[in-house]
Amino acid sequence: MSETLERWQSRRAFILAVTGAAVGLGNIWRFPYMTGENGGSAFLLLYIVFVLLLGLPMMMAEIMVGRAGRRGPMQALAYLAGEAEVSPAWRWLGLFGAITVFFILSFYSVVSGWSIEYLVESLSGGFVDRTPAEIGTAFDAFLADPPRMIFNHTLFMLLTMSVVAAGIANGIEKLNNVMMPLLYLILLVLGGYAFTTTGFGDAMRWLFTPNPAAITWSVVLNAMGHAFFTLAVGACALMAYGAYMPEEQSLPRAVFSVALLDIAVALLSGIAIFSVVFSHGLDPGEGPGLMFVTLPVAFSELPGGQLWLAAFFVLLLVATWTSSINLAEPMVSMLVDAGLRRGTAAILVGALVWGVGLLSVLSFSTLADVHWIGEMNFFALVSTVPPDLFLPVGGLLIAIFAVWRMPQPLARQALGISLPLFRLWRWLVRYISIPMAVIVLVSGLL
Ligand code: TRP
Repeated sequence: MSETLERWQSRRAFILAVTGAAVGLGNIWRFPYMTGENGGSAFLLLYIVFVLLLGLPMMMAEIMVGRAGRRGPMQALAYLAGEAEVSPAWRWLGLFGAITVFFILSFYSVVSGWSIEYLVESLSGGFVDRTPAEIGTAFDAFLADPPRMIFNHTLFMLLTMSVVAAGIANGIEKLNNVMMPLLYLILLVLGGYAFTTTGFGDAMRWLFTPNPAAITWSVVLNAMGHAFFTLAVGACALMAYGAYMPEEQSLPRAVFSVALLDIAVALLSGIAIFSVVFSHGLDPGEGPGLMFVTLPVAFSELPGGQLWLAAFFVLLLVATWTSSINLAEPMVSMLVDAGLRRGTAAILVGALVWGVGLLSVLSFSTLADVHWIGEMNFFALVSTVPPDLFLPVGGLLIAIFAVWRMPQPLARQALGISLPLFRLWRWLVRYISIPMAVIVLVSGLL
């Protein structure tokens, strides 16, 4: 397990790769429905605070560890623990990350499959002249149809694993380059449309009027988990990307722009979706189906709506694709470092994740009422516990390793910043981010 020699081809490529990892279902699908279920503005505010005070410094810590280790996550942690002469048990953090991304990818692929279905449906005119109620019914019918869901889930896993098998620094860089700006453009159009709807005012009020009464520990915990999820932090996935970071790049600058963009995309998508919700009297707390019911309604009112809708789903697919590639990478890079060929590792990981994903598929039909913990069926379980619990715990441990265990000169070098800035970052992580995460985790779980 010697050092990896692979590198992103340029600074821009690294930023795009991290943006690609960050922007995905988390912004466009999960953010709106979590906001809807967690009291609107309260959730939004907490999410932004957590992204800036906790997600960002921890994101730097995670990428930095990968860059200093230059190996798959488990091997990087083992190597750095050796350098620092601390317990070799830190390597198991890499395994914990792999378990986390494993379960996240298993449901991520299923939901991304819904986008494939909706792309095809919009191209074939399936949403033309439909009422919101009809669109909702059609979505339920789709969920109750396992073969269709399995087909899309399979297709999406194949897309993901074929890129991962080819090695990430290749095709994905170019894909990102073109597709991400287009996605932002279409979101802006959607935001402009939202502005013209009757629900716009209500949406803005609902999202931005302070509502401290809605804040409970569970809302705080969910908001923290979502901040990790949307930034792709806490599962060693960005650590795997950091290993390929070019030598001369400054890390803080790169991640800062990613975090701002991530917030912007979530806000735009939230404004668009809730404008539709309020102009059509839909339910903000609809849950995971929220986007799939509101967007077809929104686009059906735009001139050329079906084409816009199709374009939106193409771009959403690209965004989820680049995220799922990131989710798969830490598992594959560890297996490669353990001696497997990349292709073999990708097939193995892909097959296992696909199989577990079937349980999520069936959670909308046959297994809907099979409860694993409390009231949660399999999909509810994997789409909440790994993001909202495993990611913060993982992020916390990575941060502790970064500021209290790693040799600090090595940390500073891998961050690529001046000494005063380094001290500021370390102070922030030690005395703000880590205590904050501990308090929320402990209080949220009690
Ligand atoms: N951030 C992505 C999204 O918002 C999901 C994601 C990609 C992720 N890579 C990750 C989540 C690693 C956790 C860990 O859709």
